[in-house]
Amino acid sequence: MTLINKKLNLINKATPVEFLPRLTEYFGGPDIYIKRDDEGGRGEGGNKLRKYERIIADAINSGCDTLILAGHYQSNAARLLVSSACRLGLKSIVVCKEMVSKQNVAFDKNGNALLMNLMGAEMESIESDDDYQEAMSNVAEKVIKKGGKPYIIPFGGSNLLGTLGYVDCSEEIIAQMNDMVGKTPDYIIVTSGTGGTQAGLVAGLLHKNIDTSVIGFSILHKQQQAKEIVTELANRALKHLNSDKVISDQVIIDDSYLGQGYGIVSDECIKASRLFARLEGMFLCPVYTAKTMAGLIDYVKAGKITKDKTVVFVHTGGTPLVYAYYDKLYEE
Ligand SMILES: Cc1ncc(COP(=O)(O)O)c(C=O)c1O
Repeated sequence: MTLINKKLNLINKATPVEFLPRLTEYFGGPDIYIKRDDEGGRGEGGNKLRKYERIIADAINSGCDTLILAGHYQSNAARLLVSSACRLGLKSIVVCKEMVSKQNVAFDKNGNALLMNLMGAEMESIESDDDYQEAMSNVAEKVIKKGGKPYIIPFGGSNLLGTLGYVDCSEEIIAQMNDMVGKTPDYIIVTSGTGGTQAGLVAGLLHKNIDTSVIGFSILHKQQQAKEIVTELANRALKHLNSDKVISDQVIIDDSYLGQGYGIVSDECIKASRLFARLEGMFLCPVYTAKTMAGLIDYVKAGKITKDKTVVFVHTGGTPLVYAYYDKLYEE
């Protein structure tokens, strides 16, 4: 086994795929399923765990004992890194910038900030115009001076190792859908941020010759940039898998639900959060999955996804952010 294929077991088992009967009925089709990547593992779950399974394995194999990550006080990636580090007996340091300008006490002290505080997370604050890479290198030097061995986590866990975590997920989804409904889905709907999640799904499906379209709703970058990032990561994964396939223009990204930008909640995303909670009793993340659900709702309403199709919505986690953004979501 090459080093790259070594992975930890941070999720414990395959995350479930569930049918969403009431959302499906609300539209009168397509059949909508959800992949519960919000549910697996510790630290409240989420997509980063799949990425960290190989990234933290690499850190341990390299003899490192301190994981350093660029994030912010409401970062899902940081919460899951700190949780994984606690579980594995490693140290972690989160280099933090303000995510969006100050909002309220809940934003500073609830949601991911609270959970990281409970876990005793070490947070190193930097100014918003400071460079993350430089700041992480400085933190790494300090760790070395104290006799530790630092490992810098790639931004959003989106490198080859992280992307392979979502190749795993694509295989899980296909096997689960085959078991449940005897066919592969027509569409997989996913949130696209730093790109590794979508890239892994795209690469995994193409590698296995599965004709499912992956639609990524971008919550971070504009369409062209997001597309280039996902394409590059997917091609790296395909190369690693010894596939002869190369992606050129196939990656589908829609940035129309980004709203005013990363971390800024939009009206559509609030409406989508409420509709989904009221129909299915489940919560979406206002920064990530709620924007994606807003996109799915519009696609179905506009007939861009027709009623005869089968859709899997990937819930990538982030529900602690509901508490941080309570003032936007609470209906008076
Ligand atoms: C809840 C949630 N969904 C989706 C994403 C986006 O995943 P990726 O960065 O791999 O595109 C993130 C990234 O932080 C996230 O926290």
